[in-house]
Amino acid sequence: MARKIAFINYKGGVGKTSLIVNTAACLARLGKRILLCDFDTQSNASIWLLKLDRWNPINTSGEGAVFSIFEPGHHRVKDLIIKDVVLDKAGGNALPGLDLLPTSFNLVDLESEYTGDPHRPAYVIFQEQIAEIENDYDFILFDCPPNILRASQCGIFTANEIYVPSNPDALSLIGFTLLVEKLGRFHQLSASFRKASMGVPAQICGIIFNAIKTGVDIEVPRMRMQLRLNQFKAAKRTAKDAHIFTAFVRDAMVVRRAVALGLPVTLLGQEAEGDNVVRDFERVADEILRNPPAP
Ligand SMILES: Nc1ncnc2c1ncn2[C@@H]1O[C@H](COP(=O)(O)OP(=O)(O)OP(=O)(O)O)[C@@H](O)[C@H]1O
Ligand SMILES: [Mg+2]
Repeated sequence: MARKIAFINYKGGVGKTSLIVNTAACLARLGKRILLCDFDTQSNASIWLLKLDRWNPINTSGEGAVFSIFEPGHHRVKDLIIKDVVLDKAGGNALPGLDLLPTSFNLVDLESEYTGDPHRPAYVIFQEQIAEIENDYDFILFDCPPNILRASQCGIFTANEIYVPSNPDALSLIGFTLLVEKLGRFHQLSASFRKASMGVPAQICGIIFNAIKTGVDIEVPRMRMQLRLNQFKAAKRTAKDAHIFTAFVRDAMVVRRAVALGLPVTLLGQEAEGDNVVRDFERVADEILRNPPAP
């Protein structure tokens, strides 16, 4: 069965999308089969991997984006997945094994206009459709916005593991704290919809520091985060082996460049060669691989 992991922090702009896209690419390069589900209405991951020329038609028509499984409800996740999404300049397959469930700006309607059936919340509809295809993957990853509204709920309800990208600052720590509170409440609200086959409700398993500037000592923010994590662990509000990743990701211009080029940093070739940040993402991927959730 696929490992299902949501990347989320209540703090925006910490690098959730950068981490998930680049880590997914590293895992795909290791031969893993990855489905990346974009649950952020900003569509950053979708625009990044599809580039504007392939994403614009989806956004304009709404056809092919994840919202169409909810309203009008004619599509299923399995029909919307873009296989081997990353293409090279000649339109060839640049990264076999990385598939995308794209989103478009209309996902915002899930939060307001969507009424649906109160007995079948959006997250139940989504989880059932992921269950149909999860045997096709080693990892199913959910890029979430910095909240636990309906779109995020789809990823969190379906996932068993949560990783929290963070910057070494007080606001990330606040975002983490808020996340733990909101997560507990969501698990209570959604408990009656869970089936035994889904495994444990998503638990916070790790915190990943991102965008660390050269010369910046992260020991103090790391210690503060560790103290907070210890408190939550003692209260059984995270996984019992939740940890701050040993791997962290440096701040590097090439990470921002990669978005403009529509490629994960591992595929930038010469431009990223010798840049340590590529190794950083590989280490993050490796640490995820080495830490499957306890049975
Ligand atoms: N390691 C890094 N080095 C340099 N720039 C980075 C790094 N990580 C992220 N960034 C840049 O920081 C900005 C925010 O990153 P990103 O979009 O991944 O954050 P996010 O947490 O997904 O944001 P949101 O909450 O809006 O979804 C982007 O411009 C991204 O390119
Ligand atoms: Mg994002």
